[in-house]
Amino acid sequence: MALKLREHTFVLEGGKRLSGSVQVGGSKNATLGAMAAALLVADDCLLENVPGIDDVEQMALVLRSLGCDVEPAGDHALRLNASRVSSSVPDPELVATLRGSFLVMGALLGRLGEAACPPPGGDIIGQRPIDVHLAGFRSLGAETEVSREMFRARATELRGSTFFADYPSVLGTQNTMMAAVRASGTTTIVNAAAEPEVQSLAAMLNDMGADITGAGSNTITINGVDRLHGARYRIIPDRIEAGTFAIAAAITGGEAEIQGVEPDHMQGFTAKLRQAGVGVETTGNMMRVRAGGELKALTLQALPYPGFPTDLQAPMAVLLTQAQGVSTVHERVFDNRLGYISDLRKMGAEIVTTGTTAAIITGPTPLSGAALTALDVRAGAAFILAGLAANGRTTVSDIYHVDRGYEKIDEKLRSLGADIERT
Ligand code: EPU
Repeated sequence: MALKLREHTFVLEGGKRLSGSVQVGGSKNATLGAMAAALLVADDCLLENVPGIDDVEQMALVLRSLGCDVEPAGDHALRLNASRVSSSVPDPELVATLRGSFLVMGALLGRLGEAACPPPGGDIIGQRPIDVHLAGFRSLGAETEVSREMFRARATELRGSTFFADYPSVLGTQNTMMAAVRASGTTTIVNAAAEPEVQSLAAMLNDMGADITGAGSNTITINGVDRLHGARYRIIPDRIEAGTFAIAAAITGGEAEIQGVEPDHMQGFTAKLRQAGVGVETTGNMMRVRAGGELKALTLQALPYPGFPTDLQAPMAVLLTQAQGVSTVHERVFDNRLGYISDLRKMGAEIVTTGTTAAIITGPTPLSGAALTALDVRAGAAFILAGLAANGRTTVSDIYHVDRGYEKIDEKLRSLGADIERT
């Protein structure tokens, strides 16, 4: 399937003003955590609001390679059952293409007392070490072993302790939480990641019988429990998909009602969107976004939550090419996530980079259609946004990257009036 999708391209005719209503799906990254959590128990776990994206399919393959059943259970729902988990080592080839698959480490360690995983793949957006994950496991008494081909962790008994994370890594925090839920005593993760996806995993684990408090702050406390059980859990809305649609409306001078969002999770983003001169109103789980005349330049730093999310850094930079004045964008989470900028220049954007983490954008500059290749899921989404704003035709190839994280983005944008086709 991957090969077939590689041949797909989006073709966009820019300049259409978007308007209408669009529904956001469940969070990609929260789903990956929830799927890994199902490994902790021998009971059924039912996940609802699961997005129909390729990363979820890939994670299902990773779990099946361990002997876990993963089956569709109706519309956007999955039933997982890990009663017959037969291996503590997932298929290396599957892990190599999905960063989130490394979450099976913490879950298997928590369930079986041992786990091994080859280096996980993922987008090329900078160095992506996993020292925090391994240090988390060690703090619980596990021994870890690192070779070029495999990371291993093993423990005869996992014991709670205080763990100071060198960096508030999202997956590192999630992995440590999953290893700690059944450890004896209390684990405290200091300098924990606070992202909604971490909060979501803690909520699901608590539904499974765990005792976790503090998720969403930088200190998480996990009181070990003897037993966990299956749960039914609804995945939180995808804040990055919601932000992508908000920018799509704003960059085309349009308006959109984005349904099914969690506005609290989006404050770092909406604060900047408003500062750019875009109208944002929220009512319950609906966010109304309305372009309001001229866009204004601003200074932006991508930071750990609740800061501006790195996953919306590229999409927001595209918007800033249309803003009046000089904007600065500083990527402070990953050290190489500006790879998309040379293609924006090709379209007419005036952007200077300083190193691999900072960009200065002078706008507004008209963009003209171009032939682009998606580099990763978020850069691919950014190119689609650039194509919506550009004069003429833009093609975005290698859209399998986009399909990894966005369910039917072309159909959803078409429902808002965009001229976008998958060929
Ligand atoms: N880091 C360390 N040591 C570690 C782990 C990370 O120094 O052991 C550093 C990294 O080098 C990086 C920073 O920490 O500079 C952030 O990495 P983090 O571990 O927080 O990211 P992640 O957990 O690998 C998740 C998401 C990413 C998202 C980041 C930040 C998943 C599967 N991935 O990655 O999502 O950008 O958190 O919010 O949950 C995406 O969806 O497109 C995506 C890349």
